[in-house]
Formats: sequence, C-alpha cells, structure tokens
Amino acid sequence: MSRLPLQAGNWKMNLDHLEAIQLVQRLGYHLDDTDYDRTEVVVCPAFTALRSVQTLIEGDRLRIGLGAQDCHWEESGSFTGAVSPGMLAKLDVSYVVCGHSERRRLFGETDDVVNRKVRAVLAHGMTPILCVGESEEQRDQGRTESVVVGQVEACLDGVEDRQVAGMVIAYEPVWAIGTGRTAEPGEAGATCGVVRAAVAERRGTDAAEALRVQYGGSVKPGNIEALMRQADIDGTLVGGASLDPDDFAVICRWHRL
Ligand code: PGA
Repeated sequence: MSRLPLQAGNWKMNLDHLEAIQLVQRLGYHLDDTDYDRTEVVVCPAFTALRSVQTLIEGDRLRIGLGAQDCHWEESGSFTGAVSPGMLAKLDVSYVVCGHSERRRLFGETDDVVNRKVRAVLAHGMTPILCVGESEEQRDQGRTESVVVGQVEACLDGVEDRQVAGMVIAYEPVWAIGTGRTAEPGEAGATCGVVRAAVAERRGTDAAEALRVQYGGSVKPGNIEALMRQADIDGTLVGGASLDPDDFAVICRWHRL
C-alpha cells in the first residue's frame, strides 16, 4: 500500500499571527501541485495564529493543512487556559499533535492524558499525530523498543482499529529534539518499523499498513532525503527547520532532491 507522506511543521511557541501569515505565504510560494500530489504539507501554529492562517489558506486556496499543537480532551467547561477539540475542528484544523515530549516532560502529561486527547481528537473528526519516543537514558539502557511500544499501546487504548489506520504516529527520540542530533536514518527507520510492527500485532496488518509513521528530531534539508528513503518513514515532524520557509519547503519537496 502506498502511503502519502506527511511533512508537518511544529512551530511550538514561536511566531505571532502576523509572522505566521508571512511564513505560510512564503511556503505557499515555493510549493506547487506536483509537490502537494507527492506530499501532504501541514503547519501547526500556536493557538493565537490558527484563525489567521486558516483564513489565508482558504482565501488563497493553498493546499497546506492546518494542525494544532495540543488540545484538552473535554468539550467545554472550567479548564482555564485550555482549548477544546471542538473549537479546533470549527477552525478547520485537521491534525492535532498529542503527547509531544515537551508536553510530557514540561507539563506532566502521562500516557493516560495523551490517550484521552487522542480519543477526543478522533471524536471530532480530526487526525491525531501521536508522539512517542525514548529519552537518552532509556536509550542508553537499551529500552528504546519497549518504551516506544509501551507508549503506542497505552495511548491507543480504546481507539478502534479503523481509527488507528487513519492516524499518524510520530517517533521522536527525545535526545534528538532541538539538539541538532538526528537519529541515524537506518536506526530511525528501524524504530518506525517497530512502531508499525507493534500496531500490526495488536490491530492487524490493514491498520499497520495504512498508518503513517513519521520521524521527528532535528530534521533538516540536509538529512530529509536519507530519512525519506527509509521504507517505514512516511514523513517527518519538524520543529526548528519549519520556522524557516525556505528550509521547510526543501523538506516538503524532498522528492525533487
Ligand atoms: P526539532 O523538533 O526539529 O527542532 O528537533 C522536532 C519536534 O519537537 O517535533
């Protein structure tokens, strides 16, 4: 089965709504239909920029998808500071990053919390980008596979197999995020393969073959080609390099390299 690669830019806590618009305009300028036919392109701005970016994408008919970096799992209520999945769906958000390692590490999100978010996002017709990945310590202890498989299992609890098939799982080794240290492409591809095999075993081969598995962690123009050559890597989740429209465009046009 051929899976359409997904290159997603996670802007994190960067770019106000005016800067966000400029970036998307420049990105749109670099990409044409032949690129979009080969790769799905998504940007994940901060909440404050979602509406502006949505309006631009719609107005200019850009084939760039909109993603959010997080959301709460409840529909509404007394959750000061939180944003609900319904609010995001209303803004034509198609993807929501769930369980990014920064959310887990800095905001105390557990697998259980991430699981609730994944299910809430699916319930609103959006696609979760579920992030999993081992810390440096876990890696040094040789626990990469068990950590990653454990996260996949826990975070997909109660999700139907056919929903898993439509999801995205991003394998992001924590030690490679924002550090400039990328996992060696073969190693990254192998761990993405472990994710797919874990899904195959638990959810069947149909779900595993349809599921898109991304790699994330210091992805840049210089390493995108080698990463995309890995059979089990169906795209990347890009932090730092997605803040530069020229660099992110190269990542989205990887097939031209
Ligand atoms: P990075 O971030 O590309 O800056 O390493 C990746 C991520 O956190 O998704």
